[in-house]
Amino acid sequence: MHQDCKKILFSEQQIVERCQKLGQQLSQDYKDNKHNVLFVGILKGSIPFLAELIKHISIDMELDFIAASSYEGTESLGDIKIIKDLDCSIINRDILIIEDIIDTGLTIKKIKELLYHKGAHDVKVITLLNKQSRRVCDVQADYVGFEIENEFVIGFGLDFNQKYRNLPYIGVLKKECY
Ligand code: IMP
Ligand code: MG
Repeated sequence: MHQDCKKILFSEQQIVERCQKLGQQLSQDYKDNKHNVLFVGILKGSIPFLAELIKHISIDMELDFIAASSYEGTESLGDIKIIKDLDCSIINRDILIIEDIIDTGLTIKKIKELLYHKGAHDVKVITLLNKQSRRVCDVQADYVGFEIENEFVIGFGLDFNQKYRNLPYIGVLKKECY
């Protein structure tokens, strides 16, 4: 275990097993779709989760990415700016957003609104982790890997100041590290 990690919440094995289950569920839920579902990964934190998840998808799908960041120096929470936009048109498409964690929900709410604004037919959300107790808006994930308490977590894509994304497990960051 990394020295900055207080405890491991979910091992690599547990995450892989959860991704198998979620992949089977998604393959079932989207199997009658007329058009291929478009998976949209939110950079950068979703990459390890997305990479594991799509190995367990047995239907045809397509992949694109979007990167967003919060506006700095504004008072209005939840204002995000798009740093990297989608490469493809999403008019009339069914989309599954892949996120590492939903905390307040503000990021995912804005991205959902943006994708509908760009003409998406349906936008659903899958998140590896969900901190339900922190939610400040009425947005829910359609698929959740694991529910967690209000603790700062790292690993499997999740960072603190861009560090720890490479850890193969999800752990709680020691208080003295932030
Ligand atoms: P939200 O808009 O508050 O839902 O913010 C979600 C984003 O905050 C995530 O995509 C993460 O980048 C970040 N975040 C929230 N909680 C954690 C955490 O415990 N560890 C690492 N990043 C987090
Ligand atoms: Mg994120």
